[in-house]
Amino acid sequence: MVLPSRDLRFVQTSVARHRGDPTRLVQILWDVQDAYGWLPEPILGALAGELGLSLAQVRSTASFYHFFHLRQMGAYRVLFSDNITDRMLGSEALLERLCRTLWLERGKVSEDGLVSVDTTSCTGLCDQGPALLINHRPMGGLNEARIDAIAEHIRERVPLAQWPQEWFDISPNVRRRDWLLNHRAPAGAAVRATLARGAAGTLQEIIDSGLRGRGGAGFSTGAKWQACRDAPGSAHYVVCNADEGEPGTFKDRVLLGECLDLMLDGMCVAAHILGARQGLIYLRGEYHHLLDPLETRLAERRATGLLGPGCFEGRLDFDVEIHRGAGAYICGEETALIESLEGKAGKARIRPPFPVTHGYRNQPTIVNNVESFALAALVALEGAAACTARGTPASSGTKVLSISGDVQRPGIYEVPFGVTVREVLAMCGGLDAQAITTAGAAGHCLPASEFDRRLAFEDVATGGSIMVFAPHRDLIELARNVAHFFAHESCGFCTPCRVGTAVNLRLMEKFLARRGSPYDLEELERMHRLMQGASHCGLGNTATLVLHDLRHKFPQVFAQRLYSSGYEPAFDLDAALSEARQMSGRNDPDAHLGDNLHAHLGVPLGGTTRFLGPQAQPRTAARATTAQPAASAAAAAGKP
Ligand SMILES: Cc1cc2nc3c(=O)[nH]c(=O)nc-3n(C[C@H](O)[C@H](O)[C@H](O)COP(=O)(O)O)c2cc1C
Ligand code: SF4
Repeated sequence: MVLPSRDLRFVQTSVARHRGDPTRLVQILWDVQDAYGWLPEPILGALAGELGLSLAQVRSTASFYHFFHLRQMGAYRVLFSDNITDRMLGSEALLERLCRTLWLERGKVSEDGLVSVDTTSCTGLCDQGPALLINHRPMGGLNEARIDAIAEHIRERVPLAQWPQEWFDISPNVRRRDWLLNHRAPAGAAVRATLARGAAGTLQEIIDSGLRGRGGAGFSTGAKWQACRDAPGSAHYVVCNADEGEPGTFKDRVLLGECLDLMLDGMCVAAHILGARQGLIYLRGEYHHLLDPLETRLAERRATGLLGPGCFEGRLDFDVEIHRGAGAYICGEETALIESLEGKAGKARIRPPFPVTHGYRNQPTIVNNVESFALAALVALEGAAACTARGTPASSGTKVLSISGDVQRPGIYEVPFGVTVREVLAMCGGLDAQAITTAGAAGHCLPASEFDRRLAFEDVATGGSIMVFAPHRDLIELARNVAHFFAHESCGFCTPCRVGTAVNLRLMEKFLARRGSPYDLEELERMHRLMQGASHCGLGNTATLVLHDLRHKFPQVFAQRLYSSGYEPAFDLDAALSEARQMSGRNDPDAHLGDNLHAHLGVPLGGTTRFLGPQAQPRTAARATTAQPAASAAAAAGKP
């Protein structure tokens, strides 16, 4: 198909703006989508031609990311945050209300192409939910009146720029400041301190500070920078991980506002230590609204000699570029992030080699969290002792927490490492909690009996996402939400995670429907062991932690939902056939599956799949046959 010349010109201009570089594909796709509202196939074909890629390569990248659309979308695209904290605040009912008011089916585009309404995993606004994104603009604090007003504005086709701008106000919600959030250093001061002390001396300070990465894993920042500095390569790269996809986390969103210069200083400090000339910020797709302020600040720094070639009076050559993510949680994992930076689908790489030796463009690369860079700048400025004076021996410094859920004062709390969970809950007004998650969907879930444990890498490690659950909450809802999140976000590359996350979701839905059995609990345990041991990357390794903790530390959560003590099918086949019975006018015993099912399945009566009619009471039965795990796993993986 011949592309109209106007479209071809657009493609050529966009490709030229990105220097004809195929590794910029994700950014070029954003250009296309921003202009067309979606990614039309002929444009993808033209892009492939201009970039020297195959159409299959371009399609593979375009189809990987949740925020890229390969079909036309509504002029207004509404995405409700589907995190558990938003659900606890009533997001489901609000979504349904909006769909009802607009005569719309969730997930579908209205017939006139005006609007679509769907969910997204988490918008990073858990402290001010229920929240949504509308054409990438965030809106928190939703209620019924606001939903009705939104529907009215959409029906009247009011351009977003003319909507009341206070609807889009996002509060930083900083509730407690400490070392980092209290800093008053002028922009560039940490870099000047580094230039004065020298690269080797500053690296030694970072090592001595004991600073550990704040993205979750807690790897030594100094050791990472040292390994990268020592690695040979034609170029070294500094990458800031601002993907922040963990449900319940929003601290990087706030830090990108409150501590932006400190973070950029941290990247410059790293650049000086590594000899890097290029830095990249991987900005979460949901944080599109931060793009303009970030670009503006980068431009201001360039204009004032704090960034760019010959910055800091000619003593540094370092510039920073922003890469927009496109809605894939896995891209927070550092090797998947690098794949995405290179214009590909965000699938985790096989390690080793590690990014410090073979990272972006196969060159030595450090990937650090927003908070880690900001803290590294503070260490460069104030010295290692300022960091070790805070926190614990194995976890120096402070940690910025995102606290949401059932607390009186949700928001951002910067605390010294070593603080107990109970102390944190006292700060935010959540002392009556029955449970907290310590690292979003991917961490542990603690009962009240463990609230005297300490937040520190040597006890309760946390990336900062703390979600709090009051005693009246049904934690099976949390379990289902977490299972759904991982089933949705698994990249599908390796079988244990692809199948395991799907099985876990099916199991949780079964428990939610009060159809769970002890067999299902065993299946859950099997999936935990399988995924922990055999998943290719950290997503699969951590996807069962909350479920595992709920099973072992909150046994009542599942016990209350047990339907039988043996195997129980997830699907009530007999009930599903009621319509057929009505149509055929039959309701005799033979028209019910009941024990007839066993004739169909070839399972003897009294065996493990003895089917109970809808009126049946819970009962005891023998353990599952060995054939069942395979059958249930295959079914959950969508296989016949
Ligand atoms: C599935 C997954 C998602 C991740 N998401 C993030 C993220 O959003 N932000 C982040 O800094 N680290 C994230 N990480 C950790 C990164 O892989 C990496 O360890 C981190 O960016 C290193 O920075 P740090 O040493 O400063 O913590 C994620 C890891 C996994 C396995
Ligand atoms: S563990 Fe999950 S997210 Fe990671 S590579 Fe395997 S399928 Fe993909």
